[in-house]
This record gives sequence, structure tokens and C-alpha cells, in this order.
Amino acid sequence: MSSSEERVFVTGASGDIGSGVVRGLIKNGIQTTAYVRDEKKAEGLFKDELKTGRLTIVVGTYSSVDVFTKAIQGHTRLFLLFSAIGSKPTDMSQVKGTFGKIAYEQGVRQIVDLSSAAVSRLGKKGIIAYMHTIAEEKLWTLADDKPEQRSLVVLRPTRFMSSQLMTDVHPVKHLNKLVFCASPSSVTTWIDSRDISDCAVVVLSESVEKHDRNVYELCGEAMTNEERAVVFTKVLGKSITYEQKSLEDFYKTITARGITHSMAYNFTFPAPKDASNAVTPEISIIIGRPLHTVEEWLKENIKAFQ
Ligand SMILES: NC(=O)c1ccc[n+]([C@@H]2O[C@H](COP(=O)([O-])OP(=O)(O)OC[C@H]3O[C@@H](n4cnc5c(N)ncnc54)[C@H](OP(=O)(O)O)[C@@H]3O)[C@@H](O)[C@H]2O)c1
Repeated sequence: MSSSEERVFVTGASGDIGSGVVRGLIKNGIQTTAYVRDEKKAEGLFKDELKTGRLTIVVGTYSSVDVFTKAIQGHTRLFLLFSAIGSKPTDMSQVKGTFGKIAYEQGVRQIVDLSSAAVSRLGKKGIIAYMHTIAEEKLWTLADDKPEQRSLVVLRPTRFMSSQLMTDVHPVKHLNKLVFCASPSSVTTWIDSRDISDCAVVVLSESVEKHDRNVYELCGEAMTNEERAVVFTKVLGKSITYEQKSLEDFYKTITARGITHSMAYNFTFPAPKDASNAVTPEISIIIGRPLHTVEEWLKENIKAFQ
């Protein structure tokens, strides 16, 4: 099937990754449907893309199964992203299982699932890995039920660089510090969400057969907390140091902000011993350029930290 006959359905389309996927697909000339909760927000986000006539906006949620069932008809591919914020541990697998089943039954040939590197490293240990692991299991079962007709590709990214906008803006701006509960030499693995979107766009644009049943881990850089403070110092031009909080203080601070016990507990896990080997330069084979570094990301987002 040539790309002109393809129609791609994007869930989470108004989010960080989904919006990048929509923009990339439209740039590639592919008929795209953005599944969003808020039509006005989507119209604002995709002003240029709507002008091409190739973008359709459908308003629906993870609960509006009837809307999804009708809207997915005629599509050949699905980008499947579930936002776990405020959800119960089994919500992700329920929604992905339901949407995945309906999509395949309605003729979708390829699902590209946005999962997490936690699946590879932790299995079901910790709530984030648990949610993504059982959701993936449902999708693999659905795909393997009719392997000739159903293709599945799983993207497993590490921690998003954009999450620094939530955790680090306040301490960097007001205390000149990065603050976390891990040791200064503990490694965190990072990926720019644009790299994830770009990878999804390539997979959704190329032949279904080429990427069938691949699991693509995505990690642009692995660095210690101390090393990250050095990058912040260099880019911001002022001294930023790393402060290790006690586990108890860290847990109390983030649960006081409304983060659930399970999520907060998950965030306290020490980095795996082999975390520095998690970097995936091989993704450049797919996206045609190197993955972004934390320094590059910070230079582009410097205003938020000044
Ligand atoms: N953050 C990390 O470090 C990290 C690492 C690995 C994997 N992940 C995974 O990445 C995913 C999050 O991706 P992201 O950063 O692109 O998320 P995001 O920017 O928060 O966007 C979430 C999208 O989901 C939509 N959404 C939320 N609730 C919905 C509902 N009830 N029905 C329909 N749509 C709904 C949002 O719509 P609105 O625009 O209306 O809010 C938005 O389009 C999660 O699955 C997470 O587990 C994250």
C-alpha cells in the first residue's frame, strides 16, 4: 500500500509526543486523524496542519468507546498512547486492550504502541513498569492472534527530558540546585520527546512489514546527577549544584503535591547498575540523525529555567 492510501489515527494527539506525531505525519503527506479531548486546543495546536486538508480532528476520550469505534473505521494504522496521570493501575491495559482490539477488528494493520523502557528493565516492579507491561501483553496477544494481518511495534522510551520542566524549574530558578533522592553518582537515562515522535512517524510512514514486531528502546543520554548539574551550569552560565534529599523527605514532598504512594515510591527506585549502557545510538538508523542530548534540549528550553 502506498503512503497516499494510508490513514493514521493518533491518540494522545494534543500531548507532547502525540502532537509531534501528528505534525510529522502531515509533513509526510499522510492522511491523519487526531483523537483529542479538547477541540479548541487541537485547532490552536494544528493551525498549519489543518490548512493542508489532510488532518481530521475527532473529539473523544479513553472512555468514549463508541466514538472511537466509529472514528477508527477506514484507518490503516494506529498510534496508541495512554496518559497514566490520575489513572488506576489497570486502566492503561484496559484502554489499550479495548482500543487495540477494536482497531484490529476494524481493519487497522499496524499499531505503534507508546510504552516505557521500564518494561525491559523492571518487568512488573513498580507501578509504571506494571501498567506498561500488562498493557503491552494485551497488545502482543491481540497481534499474535492473527499474525498475518496484525502488526505491532512497541516504542520503549526512557525518562523524557521534558519532565525536567516539572521537576527542576523551581529548584534551578530559586535555589540554583537540582534536587533528587538518588546519590550524586546515580545515573538517569534521558530521551527528547521529539526523538520519540520522529521515530513513531518513520515507523507509521514506512511499510508495515519493515518494522513488524520490533521493540525500539529510546535513550539519548545516560548521565549522573552530578554530570547533569555541570550541563545546567554550562548552559545557564551560573553555578548549579546537585543536592541529594533523603528518601523520606523526597517521598513526603512529592506525595504532599498529590502524587500517589505508588508513583512516589516508584520514583525512589535506584537506577539499574547497567543504566549507562541504556543509550540507543542505533535509533539513528531509523530517524536518520543522532538522538538529542540533554545539553541540546536544555539550550532549546533555557527560558523556562531563567
Ligand atoms: N514522562 C516520562 O518520562 C515517560 C517515560 C516513558 C514513558 N512515558 C509514557 O508516555 C506517555 C505520556 O506521553 P506524553 O508526555 O506525550 O503525555 P502528555 O503530553 O501528558 O499528553 C497526554 C495526552 O493524552 C490525552 N489524554 C489525557 N487523558 C485523556 C483521556 N481521558 N482521554 C483521551 N485523551 C486523554 C491528553 O489530552 P489533553 O491535551 O486534553 O490533556 C494529551 O493529548 C505515558 O504513557 C507515559 O507513561 C513517559
